[in-house]
Amino acid sequence: MTVLTEAATAIYIENLRKTFSEGKDAKSHYILDNVNLQIHEGEFFILLGPSGCGKSTLLNMIAGFIEKTDGQLSVNQTEIKQPGRDRGMVFQQADGALFPWLTVQENVEFGLRMKKVPKKERQELSSHYINLVGLSGHEHKFPKALSGGMKQRVQLARVLANDPDILLMDEPFGALDAMTRRTMQKELIRIWRETSKTVIFVTHDIQEALLLGQRIGIMSVGPSSKITTIYDTNLSYPRDITDMNFHEYYRKIQNHFDE
Ligand SMILES: Nc1ncnc2c1ncn2[C@@H]1O[C@H](COP(=O)(O)OP(=O)(O)OP(=O)(O)O)[C@@H](O)[C@H]1O
Ligand SMILES: [Mg+2]
Repeated sequence: MTVLTEAATAIYIENLRKTFSEGKDAKSHYILDNVNLQIHEGEFFILLGPSGCGKSTLLNMIAGFIEKTDGQLSVNQTEIKQPGRDRGMVFQQADGALFPWLTVQENVEFGLRMKKVPKKERQELSSHYINLVGLSGHEHKFPKALSGGMKQRVQLARVLANDPDILLMDEPFGALDAMTRRTMQKELIRIWRETSKTVIFVTHDIQEALLLGQRIGIMSVGPSSKITTIYDTNLSYPRDITDMNFHEYYRKIQNHFDE
């Protein structure tokens, strides 16, 4: 007999806290306080919240770039202590994320080179992902010759080329023009459905959250921010912003922030 079980938990977060201050008044300065969340394998999860509430901080802790203060934080049942190849991050700021002395292609191939992937395969992979994010013809440019949106796309191509199980994306399309953003959103959904990666995507844009996410975790205004509500969006892909249900969710979430 086949027993249907729930998808495995990819990320487990319990009573997670973060303070950036030290010493005895650290407690009064929690940026994140009591964050509880379980993300399933293969899920597209959105973290939605106002500027400064701690979205990047939370994502950076999951990535292993910054330490938690307190609580539980694990990926595939292993406590997160450092970054790992199982997680790939697209940073909010492309500057600083790319190596300025490497070309677009070399940036995309960086992780593959570290993994000692043979040159021919490396080139095939980088050319595939460069093409996917719409940067063909720009392979040999350096980051300083690219627009903000183009740099974001290099970051995305690099992360995808590394093929991590979990994609951590911090407002990756925030700097793109509306048309490119829409293309990238569609591409991301296509890639996610093809590869069944787990995606944690940060945004403060309700429409973007609803275009992409299966579940949407709402974060409260900081300090001591937490995930207050999780919306299980029961909408099929591709999503349609003129759909009545889409509107209904939009209104509910908007109300949430108006309160
Ligand atoms: N290294 C740090 N040292 C001290 N405070 C920090 C540090 N990093 C972030 N903070 C503070 O933590 C809070 C949350 O910052 P964070 O960047 O995580 O917010 P965010 O939700 O990503 O905002 P945005 O939407 O504007 O990117 C802010 O008040 C910020 O000033
Ligand atoms: Mg941020």
